[in-house]
Amino acid sequence: MLRRPAETLASIYKQSIFTFSGKKTAMSRELHARRLEGVDKNIWVEFTQLAAEYKVVNLGQGFPDFSPPSFVCKAFCNAISGGASMHQYTRAFGHPPLVKILAKFFTRIIGQEIDPMEDVLVSVGAYQALFCTFQALIDEGDEVIIVEPFFDCYQPMVTMAGGTPVYVPLKPKKSSGQDLSSADWILCPEELASKLTPCTKAIVINTPNNPLGKVFQRDELQMIADFCIKHDIICISDEVYEWLTYDGTQHIKIASLPGMWERTVTIGSAGKTFSATGWKVGWAMGPGNIIKHLKTVHQNSVYHCATAAQEAVAVGFQREYDTFGTDESYFKQLPAQLQAKRLRLAECLRNVGLEPIMPQGGYFMITDISSLNIDLNDPSTKDELYDFRFVKWLIKEKGLATIPVSGFYSPEHRGNFQNYIRFCFAKEDSTLKAAEDILQQWRIKK
Ligand SMILES: Cc1ncc(COP(=O)(O)O)c(C=O)c1O
Repeated sequence: MLRRPAETLASIYKQSIFTFSGKKTAMSRELHARRLEGVDKNIWVEFTQLAAEYKVVNLGQGFPDFSPPSFVCKAFCNAISGGASMHQYTRAFGHPPLVKILAKFFTRIIGQEIDPMEDVLVSVGAYQALFCTFQALIDEGDEVIIVEPFFDCYQPMVTMAGGTPVYVPLKPKKSSGQDLSSADWILCPEELASKLTPCTKAIVINTPNNPLGKVFQRDELQMIADFCIKHDIICISDEVYEWLTYDGTQHIKIASLPGMWERTVTIGSAGKTFSATGWKVGWAMGPGNIIKHLKTVHQNSVYHCATAAQEAVAVGFQREYDTFGTDESYFKQLPAQLQAKRLRLAECLRNVGLEPIMPQGGYFMITDISSLNIDLNDPSTKDELYDFRFVKWLIKEKGLATIPVSGFYSPEHRGNFQNYIRFCFAKEDSTLKAAEDILQQWRIKK
């Protein structure tokens, strides 16, 4: 290989950051790739930073502030203090013990023989599984239908893949007069059909939904399945909160409906499953002829996920396989624990005159804040939507972090949903109590 003399390299470097007059300048060429245009803002980056600056009670970002169950923590410690292999690379597409137990576990749930080596890809959290899915399956010109409200990253990920997001909203039907519920938010079949074009390649659903907490029922999933089958559309089903349902609501996997395994990528998260979001272990599951394309993206991006974390998740799933359906199962214990927190937060919001929408599943509860009539006069936020302004005010003035719900809508529909904010109730009782104290005090001063 030809080597340039050191002086030449130094002078090239100098020329690239200095003009000939010796004055430092910025580069004149465009630095960013065009695919980054319009996707640079991120609600989590913005609000996590703000919450950290103000040292708030944090019901914002969706993570538990309590510890994961001791059996997975112990499994992680065992992995780390075990053999040398736990500190080295494992199989690129998933640590063998993990893909084997995931396949065994979900074969029983879905009723479809799942091949651990072909049909499962382990990723850096569900987030990377989503990224691999969009990069692998969406081309320039493809349209992807996204059900609103939606986990915000779907939109930039579709756009970065060259696709066009097309939105179809869940709309609240008239409730029966009692408490508001996420079950009242419905996907209209005619509205869904109206979004179909010859370019439609995929639809993204999220059940239980973040931020609304809607859990799609069998007839609703069947309607989506019929649409996918009739029009040869791929279904991307984000089910990271699959174990968290309340009041007898059942989570159903769309991949388990007849004709759907063949065309569905199901996304899961060990972070949400075992209350260990910082481990960042997730997966995509589906037929091998689809998953193989996700593997191509994975091998050309992160290639491999942390071995010890995968080992611990494998041990966790084996335990859950063995205890499934019993009172010992964490998948039964966690929703029971969160149910009490969900009721507590709802009660607290009602006590300050708000009407929470009771979620059927997930970590979150949303509520309309317009009845509070808070006059927001911070000039630094005057051009933002009301919920963004409200949440910033709540952080800065009251020390409570939540998330604005319009961030879960498309630019076209955001304005219609700027009166809602989202609370995460997967928090220690002491955190919920601190939030309650803030809300109570505010009621008195209102
Ligand atoms: C609906 C949804 N999908 C995916 C993710 C990402 O999960 P992970 O932390 O496993 O990457 C989240 C995280 O909040 C989520 O709410």
